Amino acid sequence: MRVVSGIQPTGNLHLGNYLGAIRNWAAMQDSLEPGSEALFFLADLHALSQPHDPAGLSAATLEMTAALVACGIDPGRSVLFNQAQVPQHAELQWLLNGTARMGWLNRMTQWKDKAGKNREGQSVALFTYPVLQAADVLLYQATHVPVGEDQKQHLELARDIAQKFNNDFCTEDAPVFTLPEPIIPAEAARIMSLRDGSAKMSKSDPSDMSRINLSDDADTMAQKVKKAKTDPEPLPSEEAGLAERPEARNLVGIYAALSGQSAAEVLAQYGGQGFGTFKPALAELLVTSLAPIRDRFVALKEDREALDAILARGAAKARERGAPTLDAAYKALGLVRH
Ligand code: TYM
Repeated sequence: MRVVSGIQPTGNLHLGNYLGAIRNWAAMQDSLEPGSEALFFLADLHALSQPHDPAGLSAATLEMTAALVACGIDPGRSVLFNQAQVPQHAELQWLLNGTARMGWLNRMTQWKDKAGKNREGQSVALFTYPVLQAADVLLYQATHVPVGEDQKQHLELARDIAQKFNNDFCTEDAPVFTLPEPIIPAEAARIMSLRDGSAKMSKSDPSDMSRINLSDDADTMAQKVKKAKTDPEPLPSEEAGLAERPEARNLVGIYAALSGQSAAEVLAQYGGQGFGTFKPALAELLVTSLAPIRDRFVALKEDREALDAILARGAAKARERGAPTLDAAYKALGLVRH
């Protein structure tokens, strides 16, 4: 088993990242059998797809490293690194650009959402970003990729690219790439904005009230839950009653994910009660669940030397792990290197 996943180091780690992905990273790391390995990385090269501030990017990369360690990613057991220190990611992307098709990338919903009506004005990196993401996982022969629901389509693209490359350039008994499997949590695969139940919780939302950041203090978290958009009805006793109530469904989903229950179990407890009761219970659960992570994060994030050392050590291991696949890809393509 090879577990691989990444996160963009832009802004704060929020509850969507944590429940949709990072918590699962830590759980998978903790349950790995001997001989299996997990690699987690800061996708700093991906940040170039959008306008960015260079000084902010390096600070955010170190901060996100601290956040991941605070969430339980153990750099002694998992390989934790940033892409920029492992040039094989960009190299493999170029090799895969020959296999990826324009039509495939044109269909990516994230590209369509982010580009909107202004496709001509976007960076080439925003369009080809999913090919870099494919390289990120194929480089390490990833078998399992823990992600939130919004990354599923990108993982399907990675599988298509791997399959076409194997078909076009490899013999059947010696494929270069493994087809990766996305691992998406049953609850919390898609945490929504606290201000709008139809938009996902995101670090690019201009309103900070729309998300819970792992760095928020207890009062801020409680305020955000209190002000979260809801409707005037009490909670239903059955899940079907949430179908047309996206905001209520989102809060119940968050409660379920944090308490380790299903949405049905949460409703069995809170059905018939109003948000005046449910919101304070949710706020308390959030604060008690996230406070230990926040404390570790605050203690770690100023220790620049330790964070640099973690990333340097992780990158050295990642370069080693990626080398055989990259060599095999060059060779399969007939590129002369020696
Ligand atoms: P990113 O940085 O947007 O998010 C990191 C992880 O958090 C998950 N996530 C969510 N899950 C549930 N609800 C939400 N509201 C929510 N928001 C974010 C994402 O699904 C993701 O798992 N392109 C990726 C980073 C990446 C990557 C990779 C991931 C680069 N290369 C290779 C996996 C494999 C991204 O921008 O995620």
